[in-house]
Formats: sequence, C-alpha cells, structure tokens
Amino acid sequence: MNFWKKLKKPIMVLAPMADVTDAAFRRVIAKYGKPDVMWTEFVSADGLFLGGYDHLIKDLEFSDAERPIVAQFFTSKPEMMEKAARLAFELGFDGIDINMGCPDKSVEKQGAGAALIKNPKLAQELIIAAKKGAGGLPVSVKTRIGYNKNEIEIWLPALLETNPAVITIHARTRKEMSLVPARWEHVKRAVEIRDNFVDSNGKKSETLIFGNGDAYDLNNGKELVKETGCDGVMFGRAIFGNPWLFANAKHGRQIERPAKISQQENSQSENLIINKENNATLGRNSAERSESVAKNKFREIGAGYIHTIKERLEVLIEHTKLFQELLPHKNFAIMKKHFKAYVTGFDKAKELRLKLMEANNAEEVEKTIREFDI
Ligand SMILES: Cc1cc2nc3c(=O)[nH]c(=O)nc-3n(C[C@H](O)[C@H](O)[C@H](O)COP(=O)(O)O)c2cc1C
Repeated sequence: MNFWKKLKKPIMVLAPMADVTDAAFRRVIAKYGKPDVMWTEFVSADGLFLGGYDHLIKDLEFSDAERPIVAQFFTSKPEMMEKAARLAFELGFDGIDINMGCPDKSVEKQGAGAALIKNPKLAQELIIAAKKGAGGLPVSVKTRIGYNKNEIEIWLPALLETNPAVITIHARTRKEMSLVPARWEHVKRAVEIRDNFVDSNGKKSETLIFGNGDAYDLNNGKELVKETGCDGVMFGRAIFGNPWLFANAKHGRQIERPAKISQQENSQSENLIINKENNATLGRNSAERSESVAKNKFREIGAGYIHTIKERLEVLIEHTKLFQELLPHKNFAIMKKHFKAYVTGFDKAKELRLKLMEANNAEEVEKTIREFDI
C-alpha cells in the first residue's frame, strides 16, 4: 500500500497550494509535465465533519490522471484526523498528508498548521490517528524547521518516532513565513538526523525526507538533492504559469513541444519583462515571488526550452475552461490569479492582462485572447 516505496529517487513532487493546485490546474499539469506525486490543496478536517462537508468535499475531487495523489488535511483534533484519513481512503487517495506548517492565523488559531510545532505530543497523536483511519495508506507530514527558530533537533525526532512515510521540510521557520530564502542546510541536517535515528523499539527510521523552498526547476532540484542527500524535492511557486515545470524529467518525460523556436519568439523571450507588480499576487510575498519567477524564467531559457507566448496562452485557455467545468462552485476571481503568471514576458503583456481581468468566464477569456494582437 505504501506507493512511496515504489518511486524512483529523487522524487520530484508538486506542493499543495490553496486556490492554486486545484483539480483544474492539476489536470493541466498532469498533461504537460507530470510530477512524481501531487497533493490536494489543504482541507480542514474539522470543517468536513462539523458542518462543511458538502462544500469541502469538492476540494477532494481528483481524476486518475493525477495519481499518485495525496490528500492534505489540517486539524488539531486527533478524532477529526482519523475521520479525514478514513474518508481519504474511501475516496481512493494514494496517501494522506498532515499540514504542520501553515502560518495562516485562522489555521493556527485552531492549534493546527504551524502551531503544532509548539506541541510535538499532539503532532504525534495526529499522525497516529491518521494512521488508524488510513486503512493502510501511507501518512506523511509537511512542516517547517521550527516555529520562532530552528528546532529541527527536537521537532524532527518527535515526528520520526511515529514513523511517517515522508516528512517534507519547508526550510524556513514559521516566523520567517516566506520572507527569507529557504535554508537548505537544514534539510541536509534533517537527513543526518533521520539517518542516525533509532526509535524507542530500536528500529532505524525509514521515513523519506523531502526538502521544500525556492526550488525553481528540475535541475535545481537535482542539485539540492546532491547537496543535502534528501530523498525528494517539493516545488511550489515555480509551477505558476509554467505547467511544464516537471516535463523533461528523469523518467524520459518529454515536453509537449519541441525546443526549436522561431526567431521572433526567441527575441520576445529574451526580452522577458519580469515585472514585480505583475507577479505579486500568487505568492505569499510579492518581492520574493518576483525574484523566484525571474529565476525560473531565466532558467527555462538556460535549460534550452522555452514555451512561446502563444503556447502559454493556449494552455491558459485550456486551464480556464477546466476551471469553469470542474470547479463551478469556485469564484472565477481565483482563476484570475493565474492570468498574471501566464501572461508575462512580452511587450503587450500588461495590456492583455488588464483586458483579461475584465473577463467573467472562460468564453470571454478565450475571446479576449483570440482577438488580441500579440
Ligand atoms: C498560494 C499558496 C498556497 C499554499 N497553500 C498551501 C497548502 O494548502 N498546504 C501546504 O502545506 N502548504 C501551502 N503552501 C506552501 C507551499 O506548499 C510551499 O511550502 C511554499 O510555497 C514554499 O515552497 P516554494 O518556495 O517552492 O513555493 C502554499 C503556498 C502558496 C504560495
């Protein structure tokens, strides 16, 4: 039942991102560059079982194309975690992940997310509860290196004691949010701690350690694996506007379009305009987000493949149609956040973005793009 054991290392995975990696975007990513594993957006276990089931169950919809897929939950109540894990098992998920890193005030107020770093005992109880409900599915944890400071020496062994299948470490503290660069040396240390760990029954740890934070393309991911010895890398914001992120990976995945680009498209791409304002909204921190996008774009060029503006816009149309079809309950404004990420890097990008911001549905988005003279 533990699909993680069957994956070839290093394992390159897509991060859970609320209102970004929803069923529509995951479907697009599965088509253009499938990661080894995908996560759902986080879902409140309390919300599911204390009145919000009909609404939240929609965030747990997925298709086989997205497999293997892990359902992520947050709660501070072991009984809710057990129920959520059981539900994930019944829905056919491949794994269950517990969020122990979210800095959102509304999540922390419940004692969930990053607040659990301050309560290792409860964190252990949640993992045990998830395993109880999971029907044999692997249970993983996504967390940070500490709350106010690096606490990995205490926090990580506490988690390892319950033997989760994977611990993904976002290499920043809760206090740091995403305001400073991720510090991957702590991922390296986490691997050492795992390698030397023996649980209270004398058993060595088999938990996989993934690093997370600022990884911008697969080559960068592989470098980080080499530097730290971690078993895998989780990519978040690098996927914005770039569903090809995981294409061309180790398993011989191919990008959908050949790398050859026309003269005109080439010069357009070389003139990439990385506009801080334009890239601000998708990340939690605009300056860092812009920097990361900039790195990502230039890396794409460096890696020898560029997706033309036209290709990006075609995928944006496809993505928007899927959003409308699969997620009719969601506010269309959520989709608009993606427009800024896709529509960038050419002279009239801002003009087109402004027009797209006025669109209210997929049909209007398509019409605006087709009528626009790039
Ligand atoms: C818009 C957004 C939504 C996020 N939602 C979640 C979430 O639902 N669950 C979670 O564990 N982390 C969430 N995160 C954190 C990311 O999974 C990831 O840890 C963080 O972005 C750092 O990785 P990156 O530098 O590769 O983006 C979110 C991040 C962003 C930017």
